[in-house]
Amino acid sequence: KMRRGWIECRHDIDSFAPDLLSLYESLKPSEEHKSKQTQLIDSLAKSLSKEWPNARLHLYGSCANSFGTSHSDVDVCLEIEIGTESTVEILQRLADILHGDNFDDVEAITSARVPIVRMLDPGSGFSCDICINNLFAVANTKLLKDYAQIDGRLLQLASIVKHWAKLRGVNETYRGTLSSYAYVLMCISFLQLREPKILPCLQAMDPTYIMVVDDTKCTYFDDIHQLHDFGAENKESIAELLWAFFHYWAFQHDYRKDVISIRMGKIISKKEKDWTTRVGNDRHLMCIEDPFEISHDLGRVVDRQTIRIIIEEFERAADVLQHDNDPCVTLFKPYNY
Ligand code: GTP
Ligand code: MG
Repeated sequence: KMRRGWIECRHDIDSFAPDLLSLYESLKPSEEHKSKQTQLIDSLAKSLSKEWPNARLHLYGSCANSFGTSHSDVDVCLEIEIGTESTVEILQRLADILHGDNFDDVEAITSARVPIVRMLDPGSGFSCDICINNLFAVANTKLLKDYAQIDGRLLQLASIVKHWAKLRGVNETYRGTLSSYAYVLMCISFLQLREPKILPCLQAMDPTYIMVVDDTKCTYFDDIHQLHDFGAENKESIAELLWAFFHYWAFQHDYRKDVISIRMGKIISKKEKDWTTRVGNDRHLMCIEDPFEISHDLGRVVDRQTIRIIIEEFERAADVLQHDNDPCVTLFKPYNY
């Protein structure tokens, strides 16, 4: 069941923009939240410096890419020289150290694509993921942060979409739905494709930033001051954009053929990526290309059942924004499939 074609947004959609903006404001992490985060990083650095005096701690994910909310976890990357020890052995040792230093629920998750140690900081109540030498995550964190500074509507849109996804139960990769990171990439791609464009494609411009990770060059234009009014010609409100985002993913995206690529700033095809058949566990039913690890499909976790659930949620969201009398309440009604 795929209804296609373009429909117009309701004429009074902009009247919902103020409510959406105050929701966005309420999601922003508080000053108290940020200072607790800093304390957690400091105590973590102290714990680690005894064992790895030359280690560097990088924050990545939403505590550093500016897409964080007061519900976000803290993602930390430990950059260290690795000798003969394997990453898994180091993570095990890291888990022992943190356990000894009174962090709670310390657990080494070594089977994941990116192995981590997960723990709970009793001081702040924050959950914290620590990975080793995952500098791709550090690079894409900076890329997202730079995009967020070009046009304020990206942060608004992505925060609201993330909030919606959490409440509607479609932000759980271990259950076959999408990560927060995937949703942010979907929002960037969407704003790159508006007419007039709201975001440029930074990786298609002359590079001013270069970071080499495992022989891959992560490069893009990061002199974003030059782009501060890039999206000014487009006057769409957050309400209109939110509706158009859900409408796109519900009715316009061609799940059989399309791959979204913020690297290219356009839709590319599954064919050219060779993502047409299932390889191992990667089904490629919904394709979201990682900007730097370009063989990595953020939608690989989605299966035949969860893709239906996700598309139905997009349809519901578009429909609520189109017809509901109180869309800002109905849209976020908690649901667990
Ligand atoms: P919240 O914690 O929900 O606020 O969002 P987040 O932005 O921290 O996203 P998430 O915890 O899903 O991911 C953290 C970071 O891991 C991302 O920002 C990326 O830098 C990195 N990452 C790279 N590849 C992946 C991937 O396949 N899945 C996820 N989840 N993260 C990835
Ligand atoms: Mg996170």
